[in-house]
Amino acid sequence: MKEQTRLVHSTMIGLETMQNKAITIFGGSGDLTYRKLLPAMYNLHVLDQLDEDFKIIGLGRRDYTTEDYIEIARGWMKEHSRKKYVEKVFNEFAQRITYFKIDISNEDEYARLQEFYIDKEIKEHIYYYAVAPEMFLTVTNGLKKYCSKNKAKVIIEKPFGANLENASKLNNKLAEFFGQDEIYHIDHYLGKEMIQNILSVRFNNAIFKGIWNKDFIESVQITAAESVGVGTRAGYYDKSGAMKDMIQNHLLQVLSIVAMEKPTGTSMYKEQVELLKSLKPITNIEDNLVMGQYDGYLEESNIAPDSKTETYVALKVEIDNERWQKVPFFIRTGKKLATRESQVVIKFKAENDAPQNMLIIKIQPTEGIYLKFNAKKPGTANDLQEVSMDFCQSCILENRLNTPEAYERLLYACLVNDRMLFSQWDQIVASWNYINDILEKYHSSGAKLYTYDQDSMGPKEAYKLTDWILDLE
Ligand code: BG6
Repeated sequence: MKEQTRLVHSTMIGLETMQNKAITIFGGSGDLTYRKLLPAMYNLHVLDQLDEDFKIIGLGRRDYTTEDYIEIARGWMKEHSRKKYVEKVFNEFAQRITYFKIDISNEDEYARLQEFYIDKEIKEHIYYYAVAPEMFLTVTNGLKKYCSKNKAKVIIEKPFGANLENASKLNNKLAEFFGQDEIYHIDHYLGKEMIQNILSVRFNNAIFKGIWNKDFIESVQITAAESVGVGTRAGYYDKSGAMKDMIQNHLLQVLSIVAMEKPTGTSMYKEQVELLKSLKPITNIEDNLVMGQYDGYLEESNIAPDSKTETYVALKVEIDNERWQKVPFFIRTGKKLATRESQVVIKFKAENDAPQNMLIIKIQPTEGIYLKFNAKKPGTANDLQEVSMDFCQSCILENRLNTPEAYERLLYACLVNDRMLFSQWDQIVASWNYINDILEKYHSSGAKLYTYDQDSMGPKEAYKLTDWILDLE
């Protein structure tokens, strides 16, 4: 009997590996693919986590051969892969890659793509939409019209749509081709080590469990500061802006993980949705929102000369639930700032007029946890001094080596059908509801778009919202 079971099992494995699987990347010659997706797949290849027959198909409009494409990828790999670039290993990895020239905006071109799949006998698909949101509909139409549906998943980049209405339209279109459990909305912040660590810190420490609420916490700050500018992504970014590019997705993810109730099952998304639904609509834009644009943005290539797109947002958020009544959450993000640093700061209420305790979760580039508290000054009767404990996770080489890149973690999760680290549709709806309302109010209020200097920490007006902890000025 045992023998028989083993036999059936190995036959199944045999069948499994006979399937030709492929990931097709729409936007195969884009920044994201070179910087993140191909290096992530190289890492998975090195770790032996890709099936032997797994193929990577980069789609693009440029006139490259597969050899050209591989050489370009090789250049990026040397700088961007977590696992060391080794020529022999990369050459093996490159055997998986094909470049396919296509104008993805022309639905009829998908007939050629389907012929290519048939020719290569590809039976299982992951389609990766690494293109601007306005292309999502066309791509889905093209796939629906010509490509076989058999065993297909889709990974879609954020922002999903340009607003709620548009996102719903896209969702319906996707549903014509993919089942809901085949749709993977990717938000790479969910794959970041320290963002996952927020869960471990919150829910596995008696010292934090009882004080994670309005009685002990005065405010929370979430910062994602970037030193880079718009770079080569003007076409997408100028239509999107920081609110849709960072706040609607990445930073609301972080906020909801920091503030949600403890998940009961294996998936936290239900608690995240509940939290997002309890965000209080902002009533007074002037007092709660500061938007800015870095000086020089209008001179960047492909930016409209009169663009009003924000490259900086600082926002005060309130949560209308029992745990967080009247506790402000401050969120900010910006490009061309003086530093690249992301962190969550929990500021506790002061005890006996002593300096406030503070917990800082450092997300990047340094990963770690910092705790500031009060202790007796040695040699005094009862004078206090502020002391700190600083756990630097990424200072330890072994930790750095063992930490997968966010995209590597999420691509692998998709390969093994693990949906826990992907956003769900009602989460997207709740985020858009909140953000659309703010944007409409901002535009109708005629609130200012402030210009800020490059290499600063953003418009000084943002300091009217709160004293930001990460301040290099
Ligand atoms: C992307 C945004 O999703 O996240 C970019 O589109 C931003 O504009 C990037 O630069 C930031 O990611 P990270 O991992 O560098 O914080």
